[in-house]
Order: sequence, then C-alpha cells, then structure tokens
Amino acid sequence: MSFEKCLYFVRQNPLTEPSDNHIIETQGLTKVYNRWFGFRMTEAVSGLDLKVPPDCTFGFLGPNGAGKTTTIKMLLGLVRPTRGGGRVLDRPLGNQEVRKRIGFLPEEPAFSRHLKAREFLTLCAKLSHVEPDEQKKRVGEALETVKLSHRAGSRLSEFSRGMLQRIGIAQALLHDPTLLILDEPMTGLDPPGRREIKEIMQNLRQREKTIFFSSHILSDVEELCDSIGILNQGRLVLSGPILDLLGTAGVEYTVTNMPATLLPTIEPLVAGMQKRNDQWILQVAEKPNQEKVRRILSDGGCSDIESHRLQKNLDDVFMETIEADNERRGKETQHG
Ligand SMILES: Nc1ncnc2c1ncn2[C@@H]1O[C@H](COP(=O)(O)OP(=O)(O)O)[C@@H](O)[C@H]1O
Ligand SMILES: [Mg+2]
Repeated sequence: MSFEKCLYFVRQNPLTEPSDNHIIETQGLTKVYNRWFGFRMTEAVSGLDLKVPPDCTFGFLGPNGAGKTTTIKMLLGLVRPTRGGGRVLDRPLGNQEVRKRIGFLPEEPAFSRHLKAREFLTLCAKLSHVEPDEQKKRVGEALETVKLSHRAGSRLSEFSRGMLQRIGIAQALLHDPTLLILDEPMTGLDPPGRREIKEIMQNLRQREKTIFFSSHILSDVEELCDSIGILNQGRLVLSGPILDLLGTAGVEYTVTNMPATLLPTIEPLVAGMQKRNDQWILQVAEKPNQEKVRRILSDGGCSDIESHRLQKNLDDVFMETIEADNERRGKETQHG
C-alpha cells in the first residue's frame, strides 16, 4: 500500500464538518492511479475543490480524459480518493445511507438485453431496496417519466441507443433520489435522442431534483445548466453560475449611411462586419477598439449609431479557458 493510501486510511475522509448547504462539496479531492505496480502514475484528478449548490442543474465539463468519470466515481464512493475528501448531501463520500438518496447513470451502461424493459426495471427496483409492494408503482412511474410506458413489454435488445439511455435514467429514478448523477447522458445520441434526454432532464428539474451531469456537448450544457464546472487535466479551471461565466463578447454597432471613406480605418479594429441595405453592422471585441471605433464613427459624421452587447457562448468560454490553462501548464513545464 502506498504512503498516500496509508495516510488516507488514517485520516478516513478529513472533511467531517457540515458543509455550507452545498449538495456536493469537495476539498483537495485527488486520485492518482498506479499502474505497472506503481511505475506508472496518472493523476486523474488533482486537488479538486468543487461546490454544487442545491436545486440546480450542474454541468461538469471537460475534454476526454479530464477526470470527470473518476470524480463521479469518488463522489459515489466507487473509487477511493488518494488525498482530500468531501461531502455529498451532507455526508462523507461513499456513505452507505447517502447512496440511497442518489440516482446514478454510469457512462456507457451495460444492460441485460434479453430482459424486457419492465423486467429489467423491476430487478433494479429490488436491487435498490424499493419495498416489494411499491415496486410495480415505481417502475410504472419511471417508465412514464422517460416516456417508454408503451414499450414496457419490449426486450431491451430491440431498443435504440437513445431508448436504452432513457431506461438508464429510469433505473436511476426508481428509489426517488434527491440527487441524480448522470455520466455523459447525451454522448453518442443523435439529435432527436439528445432532445428527448434533455426534455426528461428539464422535467426532472421541475420536480426539484438536483442534477449533476458530465458532458462535452456544450450546446446541451448551455441549454440545461444553471451552474457549471470546467475540468482540464484533472484540475478545476472554472466554475460558477453560467450567466456570470458567459459575460460579454464585445459590442455590435449598427450604423446608418456610414461614409465608405471610413472603411479602411475601421476594418482592422473590428472582429466582423456586414452590410445590410444602407446599414453597416460592426462587431468589435476588445474594449479599447470599441472606444476607437465609436470615435471614428462620430468624428466621421455618423449620427445614427445603435449599439448592443454581444453575449459570449459556452463554446468561446470553454475553448478560451482550456487553451489558457494548457498554455499556463506549458510555461510551468518549461520553467520547472
Ligand atoms: N482505472 C484506471 N486506471 C488507470 N488510469 C485510469 C483509470 N481510469 C481512468 N484513468 C485515467 O485517468 C484519466 C481521467 O480519466 P476519466 O476520469 O475517465 O476522464 P473523463 O471521464 O473526463 O474522460 C485518464 O488519463 C484515464 O486514462
Ligand atoms: Mg468519462
């Protein structure tokens, strides 16, 4: 057993004081995988301080290999952290009681495909310790929630990938959990399949479930989430309410009757420009350029200028964050 593991056992999850009303809270959560008898080490998650507020849909983002699945497994107590700890629903990670209040959809779930949908879910209800006289009702409700009641008698081998994913969500709901943890629920699905999963997630939010899900499909995350966390190479590089993080991407000016003589001075300062009838639409990103363009336009005699702020999209924020972090790591490696 490595020194770090010994230390972990001795400390037995250092975070024991009650959390600040967060559904999930981790401190310095770290996982180092040892391979080849410790000759090869992968630090899959490094010093993660994550805070997930209650009553929200939280998107856990990151490129492939960022450490999302490893984090989820530590939150559920399926993988033992090397260092650090945390609390889920106000109990230490891996607490048996708290598992009963969490519904989990693993990444690429494996199903017993010879079973019919109702048979499979009844088996899951038994495994989830749902009371025997409740099982039938709960299975019926879960099938209804994922809009598969009409296929209750079909074998899972006849189901599409999207339908299987919905069955996966249904099994996570059987014991009426407070928190749903879904690992890549939309990955590998076609647009109609993704739409169906998103609708189910939106309906679950209305039923006041907190949803924590990992994804790298940014448009889906932007549509669904209140808050996000971005993980890169095991480290949390950005997190918070999505509206705060998106911020603005600059200003768009709409100018009527702009003299053509101004074009050469304005062109190098703008990120994009289009002409529509007698109007020019100018997108200007950086603040200093916004001021310069504004001055050129008013000095050039344009009196009719409309402006509005451009909202960044999650794609921009994600790429900027990941690139800046990779660049910083590159510099650290060079200097270190
Ligand atoms: N059981 C394991 N043994 C060794 N390395 C692992 C294991 N599971 C994951 N890893 C490594 O940990 C890193 C993070 O993996 P993972 O948590 O699956 O990332 P993600 O879910 O973000 O794609 C990757 O480099 C992966 O190869
Ligand atoms: Mg994963």
